[in-house]
Amino acid sequence: MKARTIVVILIIIIFTGALAIAVENQGAKDIKLDGGKRGYIDFPHHLHQNVIGECNACHNVFPKTAGIIKDLKLQKKLKKKQVMNKTCIKCHKAKKKAGEDAGPTKCSQCHVK
Ligand code: HEC
Ligand code: HEC
Ligand code: HEC
Repeated sequence: MKARTIVVILIIIIFTGALAIAVENQGAKDIKLDGGKRGYIDFPHHLHQNVIGECNACHNVFPKTAGIIKDLKLQKKLKKKQVMNKTCIKCHKAKKKAGEDAGPTKCSQCHVK
């Protein structure tokens, strides 16, 4: 291969790599989640991204789409309180038990009337 060809290929690889990073959508900084009769939840999305550093801690349960938890509950693909108990509170309890910074576990600390 000619040196020029190699340089062109390298530039393409670097450029598409940078593009993939720039294109990743972090979503909203803070999200209001629907908590049914118990009242909505103020969810600090970017705080969690920074603290956990792994999207799949939550997005293996539901995709990166606004309003998807409510939609999946309406379609009966997620049970009521499933995300709350099996994702949110489960992690907060585990962190607390490990003596690390943890999120709330009491109803009124998450649900705002
Ligand atoms: C601690 C849980 C959690 C983590 C970790 C998390 N997210 Fe989310 N994300 C959510 C929730 C909750 C929603 C809102 C879903 C809904 O509205 O039903 C959401 C929604 C989104 C959305 C669509 C809504 C919007 O605001 O545009 C995008 C995009 C997104 N997340 C990207 C990411 C990326 C990228 C990461 C990793 C860097 C990440 N999320 C990590 C919980 C999380
Ligand atoms: C860590 C935050 C958090 C805590 C603590 C919490 N919740 Fe939730 N709750 C949520 C989220 C997020 C949802 C929406 C997702 C879901 O239904 O799984 C929700 C949903 C709900 C719903 C609506 C379910 C539906 O679809 O109709 C009820 C009712 C509820 N919670 C009651 C409670 C009660 C009672 C407590 C205390 C024992 C509590 N929650 C503690 C975050 C929390
Ligand atoms: C994999 C672990 C993990 C998951 C999953 C998780 N959290 Fe948290 N959450 C944390 C940690 C750790 C903190 C403490 C961050 C800190 O104080 O720096 C926290 C803090 C919080 C806080 C308090 C923020 C503040 O300003 O003090 C709220 C509210 C909260 N989480 C709600 C939720 C909700 C709602 C969900 C589910 C959609 C969720 N969390 C899922 C780890 C998690």
